[in-house]
Amino acid sequence: MKEKVALLARLLKESNRTVFFSGAGISTESGVPDFRSPGGIWDRFDPDEMTFQRFVSEVKCRRSYWELFRICWKEFDGVLPNPAHKAIAELEKLGKLEGVITQNVDGLHQAAGSSPDRVFELHGTMWEIRCLQCGRDMPWKEAHEKLERGEEIENCPGCGGLYKPATIAFGQSLPLETLRQAQELSVHCELFVSVGSSLVVYPAARLPEVAAKSGGKLVIINMEKTPLDDLAHLIIRGRAGEVMSEVMREMGLW
Ligand code: APR
Repeated sequence: MKEKVALLARLLKESNRTVFFSGAGISTESGVPDFRSPGGIWDRFDPDEMTFQRFVSEVKCRRSYWELFRICWKEFDGVLPNPAHKAIAELEKLGKLEGVITQNVDGLHQAAGSSPDRVFELHGTMWEIRCLQCGRDMPWKEAHEKLERGEEIENCPGCGGLYKPATIAFGQSLPLETLRQAQELSVHCELFVSVGSSLVVYPAARLPEVAAKSGGKLVIINMEKTPLDDLAHLIIRGRAGEVMSEVMREMGLW
């Protein structure tokens, strides 16, 4: 592990255009479960019920979706960024990275100090709720309190449209401008570091592929194998917080 940490530290020092890419595994050390590890979100909820199409067309599935968020808001409100998020924020402050493309909706990169305009949230955010028709906001705490009281989330008072948390559900289009910017960064980067993602969900998982096929060096930090391991210049099997702390120490920054 030590020589791999030293290699990543050298790659980070040498690269002039570095992009980080994160998945739910970067937040598990903050107490936020990931999706596909044992005990993860998809062990507790059925992903087939959580598609965009079923959210808009089936009351039962919409109720399940809100129940998932009632639990997530309760469990994740107040969780803190861990050393992996903090390392990425510090590397940005030192001018060592272009930004972080994240699949996560927990907001922990911004909480760790990453500039909001350098965090590309491909799957939206769990901390906002919007009407699908007119875009009107509802504060997440207002919705959470209703759900805790066993009440239903009513439709938008302005247009009658459905409110939905501002995350991207399966089958829902990703935010186009965010995706365009993330693709741009991936094509032009020299170093692309994926942290804590199983790299099985598209189009997000296409970005590490694009980076590697455009000549960038792909580094994958993950507890398990991923389908893109063969494209990686370097694979570090380890816990994100521990690996990134060792990298920062190796770079003389911590
Ligand atoms: N350090 C490193 N890797 C970790 C850690 C950790 N502390 N904890 C978990 N992992 C790894 C797991 O082994 C797994 O391979 O992180 C990966 C997390 O994978 P997923 O749970 O599939 O999460 P993610 O890749 O972000 O999923 C992508 O799928 O369900 C959708 O929209 C959801 O954004 C999510 C997308």
